[in-house]
Amino acid sequence: MSSAIQMLRNEAGEPGVLHRPVYRVLQAHHAQMATVHMRDLFAADPARFERFSLRVGGLLLDYSKNRITGDTMSLLVRLAEEADVAGWRERMFTGEKINNTENRAVLHVALRNRSKQPMRVDGEDVMPKVSAVIGRMATFAEQVRSGEWRGYTGKRITDVVNIGIGGSDLGPQMVCQALKPYHHPQLKAHFISNVDGAHVQEILEALNPETALFIVSSKTFATQETMTNAHHAREWFLARALATRHVARHFVAASTNRHAVAAFGIDPAHMFEFWDWVGGRYSLWSAIGLSIVLAVGAERFVELLEGAHEMDGHFRHAPLEQNMPVILALLGVWYNNLFGAESHAILPYDHYLSSLPAYLQQADMESNGKSVSRDGKVVDYSTGAIVWGASGINGQHAFYQLLHQGSRMIPADFIVSVEPHTELQAHHDILFAHFLAQTEALMRGRTRGETLLEMGSPEGDSAQTGQFVQHKVFDGNHPSNALLLQKLTPHALGMLIALYEHKIFVQGVIWNLNSYDQWGVELGKQLASRILPELQAAAPVTGHDASTSALINHYRRMRQPHAGL
Ligand code: F6P
Repeated sequence: MSSAIQMLRNEAGEPGVLHRPVYRVLQAHHAQMATVHMRDLFAADPARFERFSLRVGGLLLDYSKNRITGDTMSLLVRLAEEADVAGWRERMFTGEKINNTENRAVLHVALRNRSKQPMRVDGEDVMPKVSAVIGRMATFAEQVRSGEWRGYTGKRITDVVNIGIGGSDLGPQMVCQALKPYHHPQLKAHFISNVDGAHVQEILEALNPETALFIVSSKTFATQETMTNAHHAREWFLARALATRHVARHFVAASTNRHAVAAFGIDPAHMFEFWDWVGGRYSLWSAIGLSIVLAVGAERFVELLEGAHEMDGHFRHAPLEQNMPVILALLGVWYNNLFGAESHAILPYDHYLSSLPAYLQQADMESNGKSVSRDGKVVDYSTGAIVWGASGINGQHAFYQLLHQGSRMIPADFIVSVEPHTELQAHHDILFAHFLAQTEALMRGRTRGETLLEMGSPEGDSAQTGQFVQHKVFDGNHPSNALLLQKLTPHALGMLIALYEHKIFVQGVIWNLNSYDQWGVELGKQLASRILPELQAAAPVTGHDASTSALINHYRRMRQPHAGL
């Protein structure tokens, strides 16, 4: 079948998850599983860990603490087969325009293609230009890191400032944080994203213009928040450096928009390019990763790419039932669509991964937060989960109460490294013990009998214990995945990020979504550009709903309380 005919077939509409024949069988199976406790599943099967765990390279996934049996996984895999996950996967890897609403290929895997194999978009092998940009980034980063690249007064660069938002911020920021132990000791990385002037001001106040290097990171080079911050940084710089010719030593860009970069005044020789087939939230592997290369060096960046490439190979070639991203995706569908779980928690037990939840929030929610199928029909099933989370240890003392005894099911991913980056082994053992304890407690819970025993009342409820015992009972049966990295190296991090990217892809296929557009962010942008001039208007504003108009007028009055507006 030609790819055009294949696309037409897909455009004609494929059913989403609820309409696949296997779904009825899954529903019946779910009805049986709804009352099964994981405690009993573990008791009945001592080999449950072996059955439901998987290693890929240095990454171990234990998914045995899920409300599943072998039958569950077989049915879920059948669901993936019926949704043609394998076919869509191949379409992505071969550069088909699976982002159908924007008519774009989705080929971030090419950015970390470390094989010598070509990868094509519109018949063109994109690998030469991918390699060329990586080469330019490496050369530039080496000049800065070695001190050869000097600021306008001849001093070496000490601070790198990425100005971007969304995918042009969260990815590089998360990776730079995760790889802190590998940073150049004399280069500090900063990230400005918020258009709240406090963010840019706070960072600029701590900088010396002679030694600061700004990377304006924006796929479109048109995002209002980024451009406002970039222009402000440029003005701040020029107020001190005085001559525009100095901008060239202190401003570079990562973008797809050569024209806008030149119009901003950045030398095109200092623009690091990427392409429309790289989605913003999948772009840390591209020129958007320049701050990462500056922080950790090109070699480490390549290790990050290699890790992702290893996961790409696993995802592309492993059978669905032994495929880590597919398994994570299917478990998510199981809880989301069958159990009605609304959210999914990301709980890193690694200090350096504390930005991972925010990063995955965008990756997942901007990709699968959609209620129209790829063929334009409103879906009648739930799609992307609410992704949230925080550093696990801190979370234990904040929101875990609700995970353990709240009324909702919240599946969670626990992510932990076996080897720490510090020599504080005792700290690490405590951290690791807590991670294990939490997953065990969530799974097992504590029965009424066990609780009474602990309360010292083996014979049953006395009047006093009876009153409070229920508060101390844990139902358990809360699902979790454990992901163990040997150590948080660039390679392991690359694998981890690519794992989640592909999980999101598989879920999008099962829900029949286009995971690679983001029309839902447009309306707010349009309204903001209408409202902005109204904030300056002379006459009171009336053209909105009563609430919005009143708030605009309140802001106008209160911003300048003495202006008599
Ligand atoms: O929030 C919408 C969005 O388009 C994201 O998808 C993207 O990562 C972000 O804005 C930034 O866009 P740009 O890189 O074009 O500035």
